Amino acid sequence: MGKRLGPALAHSDGFGRLRDEIVRLARPGPDDVVVDVGAGTGLLTLAFAPTVAKVWAVDISAVMPGHLAMKAATAGLANVETAPANAVSLPLADGSASLVLSNHCYHHLSDEDKERGIVEVCVCCDREAASSSGT
Ligand SMILES: C[S@@+](CC[C@H](N)C(=O)[O-])C[C@H]1O[C@@H](n2cnc3c(N)ncnc32)[C@H](O)[C@@H]1O
Repeated sequence: MGKRLGPALAHSDGFGRLRDEIVRLARPGPDDVVVDVGAGTGLLTLAFAPTVAKVWAVDISAVMPGHLAMKAATAGLANVETAPANAVSLPLADGSASLVLSNHCYHHLSDEDKERGIVEVCVCCDREAASSSGT
């Protein structure tokens, strides 16, 4: 993908519709603690944050989390926490999240790391435990 096409695509109607459909299918609630794996510039993080308790936005990039933190602050979203992290080793306690999101990230991982990443999100995600503890 060319350098010019990337940002244009991220702001296209198609990406907006994809984002809205993910929100609809995920049915986020006010007690949800969400993890957005490979959050990038926050397509999903910024859409979910207004309706959930917290969003952990993790991304392997050294610069994306800082960029997204600024976008969230500018949008007045105090419940977004960003962290540089690899999808195969998330910086979250076991069972601390109730909803895991990821858009256009796992294709970057090797098959072996995809398996490790899926185990990782299963371990950190426990919808009942996380929403009842209000973490
Ligand atoms: C195509 S972008 C998608 C960003 C965002 N999810 C969206 O929908 O706009 C892919 C993102 O995944 C991140 N990424 C790639 N490999 C990763 C890994 N192993 N762990 C975490 N993030 C990763 C990249 O840094 C990049 O920000």
